[in-house]
Amino acid sequence: MDTSNPLPVNHHADHPGFSGATGMLFGLFFLLVGRANARLAVEVAKVSADDRVIDIGCGPGGAVREALRRGAEATGVDPSPAMLRVARLVTRTSARVTWVRGAAERIPAEDGWATVVWSLATVHHWKDVAAGLREAHRVLAPRGRLLAVERQVEPGATGVASHGWTRDQAQSFAAQCRTMGFESVDVGEGETGRGGVWTVSAIRS
Ligand SMILES: C[S@@+](CC[C@H](N)C(=O)[O-])C[C@H]1O[C@@H](n2cnc3c(N)ncnc32)[C@H](O)[C@@H]1O
Repeated sequence: MDTSNPLPVNHHADHPGFSGATGMLFGLFFLLVGRANARLAVEVAKVSADDRVIDIGCGPGGAVREALRRGAEATGVDPSPAMLRVARLVTRTSARVTWVRGAAERIPAEDGWATVVWSLATVHHWKDVAAGLREAHRVLAPRGRLLAVERQVEPGATGVASHGWTRDQAQSFAAQCRTMGFESVDVGEGETGRGGVWTVSAIRS
């Protein structure tokens, strides 16, 4: 166990958020850098046309569009109106897509609606991880799949370089998934072309 970085998995929960013109600029930036994670997510979660996906912290919506390409229905949830504005601007209108303001701790969806819930480069911003996992469990149908993807960062990293997880933080999130009643929890590694990522996948019991 690495004790040099005791930070919790949501170590950027106090991030000021992405609002106004700055938020829109970040949205455009995430459009570019989020593509690889989005492609990885549909592969790892094995998304098909039978799925209903909720993307928690969807940002400009790259992963939502990947799910739509596979024929799934998808809902992008984000607390930032600026992010949702970018997502709507760059996504073709469709009956299969919904954008809604919300957060991990309060997902605006009915119980058991989703077959897949994922959160890409976002769990490290959640205010309350236990509440987020409770909500993910609530909105997932039985046997639904949960997926978190986070950039691999070095223990002790600071500033921009710290936005992600060390191995211990990925393992700690996996342990919290088990505590919150998820099964078959698995920590994996992926390569996005922009560096390594952790994938934590789990099944709703
Ligand atoms: C680094 S961006 C990632 C965006 C997108 N998932 C991607 O991969 O391109 C983090 C996103 O998390 C959102 N966010 C921050 N706090 C959140 C929370 N408590 N619940 C859900 N999303 C949150 C932010 O508004 C932002 O859009």
